[in-house]
Amino acid sequence: MKILVTGGLGFIGSHTVVELQNKGYEVVIIDNCSNSSADVLDRITKITGIKPLFEQFDLREKNKVQDFFNRHNDVSGVIHFAASKAVGESVENPLLYYENNLSTLVYLLQQLSSKSSAHFIFSSSCTVYGQADELPITENAPVKAAESPYGNTKQIGEEIIRDTCKVTSDLNAISLRYFNPIGAHPSSEIGELPIGVPQNLIPYITQTAIGLREQLSVFGDDYPTSDGTCIRDYIHVVDLAKAHVVALQRLLEHKNVSNYEVFNVGTGTGSTVLEVIQSFEKMSNQKLNYKIVGRREGDITAAYADTTKANNELGWQAKSSLDDSLGSAWKWEQKVRS
Ligand code: UD1
Repeated sequence: MKILVTGGLGFIGSHTVVELQNKGYEVVIIDNCSNSSADVLDRITKITGIKPLFEQFDLREKNKVQDFFNRHNDVSGVIHFAASKAVGESVENPLLYYENNLSTLVYLLQQLSSKSSAHFIFSSSCTVYGQADELPITENAPVKAAESPYGNTKQIGEEIIRDTCKVTSDLNAISLRYFNPIGAHPSSEIGELPIGVPQNLIPYITQTAIGLREQLSVFGDDYPTSDGTCIRDYIHVVDLAKAHVVALQRLLEHKNVSNYEVFNVGTGTGSTVLEVIQSFEKMSNQKLNYKIVGRREGDITAAYADTTKANNELGWQAKSSLDDSLGSAWKWEQKVRS
């Protein structure tokens, strides 16, 4: 069975391609390599022994999307990762984000809407909840006004899919709302490779530990949490990748209860920034150079998932501990820099 993975050479996409191949799916990747590299294809092949099909083009080119589906009319499902994801950049250049993240979604859905049966998994984010009123966060928590154009593309993206599903009964879709994906494949062949200075906590930690960055700044220690630093739910990327496979299987086996569903994908456990640092120090057996600085604009105090719905309905739960996830991220960083 052939599955299209857009953005399949990226961080979460590449791990998902591996898990799909492990389950026997044939994968075709579309990626424009704007934030990834074609050699990830060889790395995936090294892990699974199977080279995925690959087409390099930009999904904003509507005629190419059309042409792709004409040539691959046997695609049974689409997992759509391809998108821009830098929060700061989205504030600087909102139209780029709306074009990149939303026009591409529309073009894909236009193709799928004309099919007699289509299955679609969307890469969404817990950012849609903003600072939720209750923790842990369930899927019923209200969606709050987005803090950034990036966050807004996830909210609008979900709405576009929901509205399309309403009038297209042959289209079945699931949005997965990720909490904070971290870590790397245990083989250390694939992992997170941010371009330039990392914006996210874990790559900043591993780059500091390896000597690429001098010091980690901890953004604020005056939040109303146990140690004053923000709480997040850090999920191993392999666990997250597996959630995509089970979500797709749910659609392919017609186990979905409505043709548009939403699931949280997290571990269900929150950790403060200082807890993450301590865990990293213990795991790597080295001290991390960090200092507390002021809050980062737009950060929320705490977010962690209620995973009951994914546990019960997808039969999925995260397996890796924070230590395992940090360990794999550290192993990957060391391998990449060696
Ligand atoms: C961020 C995005 C979110 C996006 C996600 C993708 C913001 C406000 N949110 O989530 O929309 O979906 O990345 O992975 O950018 N921290 C430090 N020092 C650092 C970096 C981070 O203390 O150098 C802290 C942050 O304040 C936060 C935690 O670490 O409390 C996690 O930060 P980060 O990895 O950037 O993820 P989020 O902000 O949760």
